[in-house]
Amino acid sequence: MNLILLGAPGAGKGTVSAQLISLLGLTHVSTGDLFRQSIAEGTPLGIEAKHYIEAGCLVPDTLTANMLQEHLRSLSSSSGYIFDGFPRTIPQAEALDRILAEFNMDIDLVLLVEVDYELICERISQRRVCPLCGASYHLTLNAPARPGLCDHCAGELQRRADDSRETVMARLKTFEENTKPLIQFYEARGLLRRIDNSGPPEALREILRKVLST
Ligand code: AP5
Ligand code: MG
Repeated sequence: MNLILLGAPGAGKGTVSAQLISLLGLTHVSTGDLFRQSIAEGTPLGIEAKHYIEAGCLVPDTLTANMLQEHLRSLSSSSGYIFDGFPRTIPQAEALDRILAEFNMDIDLVLLVEVDYELICERISQRRVCPLCGASYHLTLNAPARPGLCDHCAGELQRRADDSRETVMARLKTFEENTKPLIQFYEARGLLRRIDNSGPPEALREILRKVLST
């Protein structure tokens, strides 16, 4: 099974991914995580991507699709993938179809994670991430057991470089202009389902179970 997670920045794609991994055992692929890893390693791709990410813009389609294709070739999972944050444009969606055809795969389901923008800004301001393992926390609703330290690997939690209010506003605008057309694109294919993530994190599991069973 291959599943896409579509949603505004901070809507909860990473949080939903963690739940889906435990429910379905699929392999998680986040283009945002891949870019952050390249930035941390100082690769040519990371150096180029950093400039776009810190401005709240999309990394160009060809660069992103090539990175994804290379990554899937290195993984070659037979059970399937959760695509978190890819595609974000119509050309990326078309590229994903071509890339998956190489593995005789298709998209089975697209989940649109929905939360209003005010709540997104509040959640992102409270987000802290682990630079070592990538785990994400909310300072009050999903707090680490020991303040400032990751529950999984004891890494020192940080704010993400693109989580300033100004960059979040730019990311929301980018979502409106470039990614929203994908809702219609996948609705027309009959693949889109909506997930309301405005409730507490504990509510998500039941919401996901319902969506996956219908
Ligand atoms: P990416 O890393 O994908 O960031 P994003 O889309 O902006 O989304 P986030 O990761 O910020 O949020 P999320 O939806 O995963 O929410 P989370 O679960 O963390 O991309 C970063 C950048 O890379 C892009 O801006 C772009 O420049 C570039 N890029 C990536 N992919 C690209 C592509 N395909 N093409 C071109 N460029 C690309 O939740 C947010 C917070 O809320 C957390 O603190 C979490 O704990 C909390 N939370 C979540 N759910 C709940 C809940 N139910 N209750 C309480 N708190 C909650
Ligand atoms: Mg994320």
